[in-house]
Amino acid sequence: MFYGTEFQHVAPFRTQLLKWVGNKQRFAHQLASYFPTDIRTYFEPFLGSGAVLAALQPRQAIGSDAFGPLMEIWTTLASDPEQVVQWYRTRYDEYSALEKPEGYERIKARYNASPNGADLLFLCRSCYGGVVRFRKSDGYMSTPCGAHTPITPGSFAQRAQIWRRRLVGATFIKMDFSEAMQRAESGDLIYCDPPYTQSQTILYRGQGFELTRLMDEIVTCKERGVRVALSIDGKKKSGRVDCHLDIPQGLFEREVFVDCGRSMLRRFQREGESLEDEVVHDRLLLTY
Ligand SMILES: C[S@@+](CC[C@H](N)C(=O)[O-])C[C@H]1O[C@@H](n2cnc3c(N)ncnc32)[C@H](O)[C@@H]1O
Repeated sequence: MFYGTEFQHVAPFRTQLLKWVGNKQRFAHQLASYFPTDIRTYFEPFLGSGAVLAALQPRQAIGSDAFGPLMEIWTTLASDPEQVVQWYRTRYDEYSALEKPEGYERIKARYNASPNGADLLFLCRSCYGGVVRFRKSDGYMSTPCGAHTPITPGSFAQRAQIWRRRLVGATFIKMDFSEAMQRAESGDLIYCDPPYTQSQTILYRGQGFELTRLMDEIVTCKERGVRVALSIDGKKKSGRVDCHLDIPQGLFEREVFVDCGRSMLRRFQREGESLEDEVVHDRLLLTY
């Protein structure tokens, strides 16, 4: 219990299914432990690799993202997990049958000719640094083959099984964040992890994300009694954290700085305030 809200106890869950830029896998449980215990439906409208959703394991949830091929992976995992395992296995075999990076390049060329979840799944696990990068002009997936050996189909199948169980309460839909947020009702919780930085906007093919549009949605959510947790401006390792964001006055009640091993909570007092000399990895703003 902290300032009148009872928070979740969420155990660490570090088993990654998809590799995704800006994923919260390492400290997803820490973020989720600032969510209230009485969530009706949990919404995650910038789903990415789903790290926070899987750590939380909500009874009822809607996971969404604007990126179609990514959502194809999630909807198929929910409806036919064996199919997703099969997608991985066939591409792993295709990759392994040829001299590196020929198999990878074939899969990448197929994906670029016709973007799809099956190829994206294998590319994200095997590309360089796990950073799926898209060319801004035409959305071409440009990341070269990774130096590492991708996990085996057996290991992937195990992970898929674990994830399927954790996501059993979730429904997956491809949609823009605003559509998802408008579906939420009083008593629901929305966790937002938008592509905040300029570099991330490019990485995610710039699917029409603007911070002001998000702030407007958060304002109306709060008015309806929907609670919102927003990850923003993360990855500051030390020193001053600038808060020069266009945040409507009084929208957020609390601000949390989450580190992989420890975190610090304090009242959100006024815009422009900064936290000094703290090691922080992620900044979380709460409307509750
Ligand atoms: C920082 S990532 C989320 C990472 C996620 N929390 C994780 O742990 O993997 C941001 C996501 O927002 C998605 N996105 C970008 N613009 C969007 C929009 N307008 N509506 C919904 N999703 C969007 C991107 O496709 C990307 O997956």
